[in-house]
Amino acid sequence: MTERDVSPSDAKEPDAERPAATRPLFGLSSKLLLLTILFVMIAEVAIYVPSIANFRESWLRDRLAAAHTAALVLDAAPDGTLPEGLIRQILQSVGARAVAMKKGQERRLLAAVNLPAAVDNDVDIRSASAWRAIVDAFTMLTVGGNGVMRVVGPAPEGGQFVEVVLDEPPLREAMLRYSANILLLSLVISIVTASLVYLALHYLFVRPMRRITSNLVGFHADPESPTRIIAPSDRRDEIGVAERELAAMQRDLVSMLNQKSRLAALGLAVSKINHDLRNLLASAQLISDQLAGVEDSQVQRFAPKLMRTLERAIAYCQSTLSYGRAQEAAPVRKRVALRAILDEVRDSLGLGADTPIAWIDAVPADMRVDADPDQLFRVLLNLARNAVQAIEGMPDDAKGANGGHHVRVFGRREGTTAIIEVSDTGPGVPAKARAHLFEAFQGSVRAGGTGLGLAIAAELVRAHGGTISLVDGALAGATFRIAIPDRDAPETARRGRALTA
Ligand SMILES: Nc1ncnc2c1ncn2[C@@H]1O[C@H](COP(=O)(O)OP(=O)(O)OP(=O)(O)O)[C@@H](O)[C@H]1O
Ligand SMILES: [Mg+2]
Repeated sequence: MTERDVSPSDAKEPDAERPAATRPLFGLSSKLLLLTILFVMIAEVAIYVPSIANFRESWLRDRLAAAHTAALVLDAAPDGTLPEGLIRQILQSVGARAVAMKKGQERRLLAAVNLPAAVDNDVDIRSASAWRAIVDAFTMLTVGGNGVMRVVGPAPEGGQFVEVVLDEPPLREAMLRYSANILLLSLVISIVTASLVYLALHYLFVRPMRRITSNLVGFHADPESPTRIIAPSDRRDEIGVAERELAAMQRDLVSMLNQKSRLAALGLAVSKINHDLRNLLASAQLISDQLAGVEDSQVQRFAPKLMRTLERAIAYCQSTLSYGRAQEAAPVRKRVALRAILDEVRDSLGLGADTPIAWIDAVPADMRVDADPDQLFRVLLNLARNAVQAIEGMPDDAKGANGGHHVRVFGRREGTTAIIEVSDTGPGVPAKARAHLFEAFQGSVRAGGTGLGLAIAAELVRAHGGTISLVDGALAGATFRIAIPDRDAPETARRGRALTA
């Protein structure tokens, strides 16, 4: 498994990471509940307003009906024949202070007790509009209701109208009782309706929405894992459509991301191959340079073509180095003679004991390293090439008249570990390059450099369970140290396991 691979179980739990995203404090359910209660209350108020006006009118009509019955009795008795006590009783049962009736052209006051000098309100229910009835009802509930009112209503059979004078407080009390009952009923209806609407919405809407939300949060935490794709339910409504579309989108995204990672890996693999291929081609160019010196007509004919082709190939490699990431193949290790590998490196770079940049081999002739020979060659070639490039990049006056520069390789064993140091007499590693020296594409400050050489070297050395470092405090130039432990060393076994785990 690579360092970047993350199994679904390793992925951060979305709830732990962003609890607010899954369970907001004031969520959809609470909002729906409150809104439903509010709307039901608004509906109840709309019903209450006309019904309180209606209640008042019915109450008054009841009084008028009773007054009419009384009026018939009072009208039938000849004037002055009814005792005062009976008249009082009749008026009390009607709930009125006076009863009058108009018949033909004549308006007769049939009975009266404690008749006030003036009435506070006049109501003619024969002609009152609905709006008037509402306004009167609310006036009575809020600011009025303490005086005396005169009510005129239709009189059946023969009469033109019946008229009563009433005290307002009993009507107001009845209206208040009615309002309290309506309020209580409204509350009960609101709560029951809200609960039913809430439950219905919760099961139909909120619950599936929560499922989609938590899936989105989980998917965001690990978008490359197919296990995070939502499993759509078989609902046929809009939520079902949303789930199926989401699942399709997530599937596309997962496969796109996986394809991208593969392409990225391929990109780095190509970059690495390109990089070392370019180095090999540069060595071939050097050999073909020497070939051009051979005085043979055939060689003279083909050497320039060969050199141009090599130049083109090098330029091509240089220009196609691009970003990516890949793992090197595991090293195939054996005990190799270090000197043999160093000779190849020296020849590849065209160095020798008497070239302008001298090659100094300070490795014991019998020293062996437990390593993959090709990979060790690539590591040492990268280090030595950097050294040569650093020296060549120095200004002429700093180089000195007769050169006097060299690349020196020193080797020794420390118990079961092989130590190899590559040092040079160049300017040393610039401070800017040191911070990310062994990271791909990060360490290069050299014009034309890609910043891959040391990253590749470091990856190869680490695959051997070893270390690579820039030695601090070198007197001149730069010194890189590699330590490669033998496979049977206990430390190697441990480190190797850690690296490949
Ligand atoms: N021996 C050295 N002396 C001075 N500077 C060095 C030496 N070796 C490496 N460096 C610095 O470290 C940087 C990174 O080296 P690295 O080999 O990773 O990349 P590069 O040489 O720039 O490009 P390339 O990918 O072609 O090797 C170089 O650009 C250079 O500045
Ligand atoms: Mg380099």
